[in-house]
Amino acid sequence: LADEQVPTDELLSSPLDACVAGEHIEAFPLPHALYGEGRRNSTGADLTCLVQRRPLDEAIAKTHVPPVPEASTAQIELAMGTLHTGFEAWSARPLAERAAIIRKAGDLLDARLAEFCGLLVKEAHKTLGDCVAEVREAVDFCRYYADQAEQRLAEQTLPGPTGESNTLRLHGRGVFVCISPWNFPLAIFAGQVVAALVTGNTVAAKPAEQTPAVAQRMVELLREAGVPEDALILLHGPGETVGAGLVADARTAGVCFTGSTQVARLINRALAQKDGPIVPLIAETGGLNAMLVDSTALPEQVVDAVVQSAFRSAGQRCSALRLLCVHEGIADGVIEMIKGAMAELSVGDPALLATDVGPVIDDEAFTGISRHVERLRREAKLLGETALSAGSAAVPRLVAPIAFELPRISDLRQEIFGPVLHVVRWSGDVDAVVREINALGYGLTFGIQTRIDSRAARLAHQARIGNVYVNRNMIGAVVGVQPFGGEGLSGTGPKAGGPHYLYRFCAEQTVTINT
Ligand code: SER
Repeated sequence: LADEQVPTDELLSSPLDACVAGEHIEAFPLPHALYGEGRRNSTGADLTCLVQRRPLDEAIAKTHVPPVPEASTAQIELAMGTLHTGFEAWSARPLAERAAIIRKAGDLLDARLAEFCGLLVKEAHKTLGDCVAEVREAVDFCRYYADQAEQRLAEQTLPGPTGESNTLRLHGRGVFVCISPWNFPLAIFAGQVVAALVTGNTVAAKPAEQTPAVAQRMVELLREAGVPEDALILLHGPGETVGAGLVADARTAGVCFTGSTQVARLINRALAQKDGPIVPLIAETGGLNAMLVDSTALPEQVVDAVVQSAFRSAGQRCSALRLLCVHEGIADGVIEMIKGAMAELSVGDPALLATDVGPVIDDEAFTGISRHVERLRREAKLLGETALSAGSAAVPRLVAPIAFELPRISDLRQEIFGPVLHVVRWSGDVDAVVREINALGYGLTFGIQTRIDSRAARLAHQARIGNVYVNRNMIGAVVGVQPFGGEGLSGTGPKAGGPHYLYRFCAEQTVTINT
């Protein structure tokens, strides 16, 4: 259906997404765990995304993205002082109280899906499917970390010799600096902040300059849920000044960063050069993510997985597929089918339900991706490209999905954060292909397409990569189901949305009493 033919007051099933239908909730441990692969849950139940279209349209129409003031050096200083002092009261609140506040934030967010979708479309230019998925992911982060905190952080009595009692206690570290990216301006922002808060830290949050309003609104919501003013302060501005100022502050007790590998290194160096306590860094960075397709793979499944993984969200996911390694024996057929699927994609206005691929975030991104595409047009073999949709001329910064063939895996050196797919043919030793992928140094996501189960298991084991997806797409990790994060150049761990994440925000204390 063309977008204008879709009735606006009916429940619609989003083509690229799936989320919750109430009656299926009991079958799944998390209420919203369906923004990922999306068509079924772990019990095999079919889960379809049912979202009221009219409230989304109304929210988009009335959304105004307010300007936000940049934090001055004096404001950073004042904020860090307030948070440093506020730590005492916030960390002393019982764990159950902090968890209840974060859970309430999740409930408030759930109820305001349309409002946040309006902001995400207007400020981050996300498609409707991506907006709904992102709000649901943020809700899941609130609920999951609240539950995890209660399950994992409670004081433990440890077995010991007679005449002695031993207790292990986890507590917040102090002021955590959370620096979040524009590509998930709500979900990653909220995930970092609520993890730091629920563990008893106070938080200085520095969202991406491109998407401050979504963060601002989320902070207002967290306050409404009960987070005190001196436990969370938002500081807007560039990473080079505001981010760097927060990292350098002597009161910073931890840093949680999602963004480029290059910036993670800068933060790591800045922390290492500081006097005073050793400050932990949680960094989730980029990837040169590959999908390995052998000659037994199902071509239709491969094509669906490739198109979703490489082009959804205009390729602006750190999990996105950049490098398709397809066996020589089936390469021509698979490439032909991918070209066909690319021709069907609709590239245009993100506020239209029919749009599969919206604009990239800003002019700098547009220029960088365009330069890469122009270079490959000269130096590589063009396999296919999507035409811009009719009427899309009015939408700025659209990059049409495009695919090129490269001679070797090692020819891809740099993460291109856009809808550009690089394809390499392989033959011979499949294990050698994994070694070459490992040699790229990144380790975020990896797709394997094969009908040989033992091969899938072996290759997954060999890959030094955080998230491996077999016979499906490789994006949209689900909170609590597919803990997300990489190794090597892709980050430090622990995985977001996983059972170990909260520990890194905590300090530990063992108390031994001679009784
Ligand atoms: N967590 C996102 C995904 O899995 C990427 O940041 O796609």
